[in-house]
Amino acid sequence: MGPSTACLERLIGMGGKLYIETFGCQMNIADSEVVASILADAGYELAADAASADLVLINTCSVRDHAEQRVWGRLDHYRGLRRRKEGLAVGVIGCMGERLGRELLAHPAVSLVAGPDSYRDLPSLAARARQGEKAASLGLSETETYDRITPVRMGDPALSGFVTITRGCNNFCTYCIVPYTRGRERSRDPFDILAETTALASAGFREVTLLGQNVNSYLWKTGENGPSVRFSDLLARVAAAAPGLRIRFTTSHPKDMSDDILHTMARYANICRHIHLPVQSGSSRVLKLMNRRYDRESYLDKIRAVRSILPGCGISTDLFCGFPGEREEDHLQTLELMKTVRFDLAFMFRYSERPGTYAQRHLADDVPEEVKLRRLDEIIRLQNRISLENNRADAGKTFEVLVEGNSKKSKDMLFGRTSQNKVAVFPRENHQKGDLVRVTITGCTQTTLIGVAAPEPEVSAGEPPGSRQPADEEA
Ligand code: 5AD
Ligand code: SF4
Repeated sequence: MGPSTACLERLIGMGGKLYIETFGCQMNIADSEVVASILADAGYELAADAASADLVLINTCSVRDHAEQRVWGRLDHYRGLRRRKEGLAVGVIGCMGERLGRELLAHPAVSLVAGPDSYRDLPSLAARARQGEKAASLGLSETETYDRITPVRMGDPALSGFVTITRGCNNFCTYCIVPYTRGRERSRDPFDILAETTALASAGFREVTLLGQNVNSYLWKTGENGPSVRFSDLLARVAAAAPGLRIRFTTSHPKDMSDDILHTMARYANICRHIHLPVQSGSSRVLKLMNRRYDRESYLDKIRAVRSILPGCGISTDLFCGFPGEREEDHLQTLELMKTVRFDLAFMFRYSERPGTYAQRHLADDVPEEVKLRRLDEIIRLQNRISLENNRADAGKTFEVLVEGNSKKSKDMLFGRTSQNKVAVFPRENHQKGDLVRVTITGCTQTTLIGVAAPEPEVSAGEPPGSRQPADEEA
């Protein structure tokens, strides 16, 4: 028997200490901030660690099997903690919650499960779980965008924040679980996005990342016959409304990355010169099997457009080997494409079959594990070489670096990121966290630029140093 309705009402507001452990992508980090906000309204405060919490939520990722295995491992750990700590409730939220609701609820550590569109139910689910019930809320929504919920910013340093602009995905790439765990694509009201962004600027943040599974297909329709807001419009509005913030966005889909977006980036100095453009494979045959809706040539066309409209723009990617039916010649085309594009950074994986996807239902996972591993090794080696060469080519150039904190290796050095999203370290001198410092590059490793602060440029009348105005006014 569960508690009565009146009793539950009281429990919902009772609050307690909340600890959230987040796995997976930046969307999950942003969602954890929404969850913290919803539970803060029910009286929960953030705990410093799981041991001092009344409620632990694990925000999970299902994109690859490995990500899920890590969470099962954590649940065994929490089973032990629950034995030692009476009254502790543990819940699983996010993609894995949506995908494996019942299976997770059967685990002895778990008393709460919620999917990505059910977070408004968390106060009542938590109250029931803390009363010893097993509570779940699953199911995807076509409208939930968590409007009017102000995320509780958990990032350290409080410098760089996420603002979600779309939820879900309609693309159904044949290997990908996301459309099944996060549901259909929805865009958020631009009014809310602008309010959240300017609030971050007022709170002293220096950088914001606009987030979505495919930000380029952002679309907001104002009323029946009102004007539409596309991603390029939104980007321009955000950049103009918060000229003191650096603006980033991720993830872009090559099929929706229009020249319009590139021209908007070129018009605003505060939009970072970095694009994350997942290619996945260099073979048009494989891209078709993946349902990516672009081919090798059109991807390379996009890269040429980026290079010509935004010279010096950093480009990163995701790619994976061993998709069903991938032949040696397809793999060689991926390596060739990497040599042509010369990505600054790549997130590289091997195919992991995901239950329920088109590929799992219709295509045999037929590339042997040792072949996947060998191809991945070749991809990683090549990318490491290219990253090092690209970094070496930055020697002598000067970049504006947003200082994020002390370098791990030395307290006399600071580290931060360039507009191109490269990590740079340089001697501290008088600089501190949050400063934008012009740094001239003198050396590098494969992952890091090393430099020194450049002398301040001469100030000409009417143009303050470090002015962060748009490069050009909106037409
Ligand atoms: N197997 C391997 N990698 C995958 N990704 C997505 N689904 C899979 C899968 N089933 C990779 C893609 C995507 C990134 C987030 O994860 O490269 O861009
Ligand atoms: Fe997955 Fe493709 Fe959607 Fe990205 S665009 S989330 S890879 S289905």
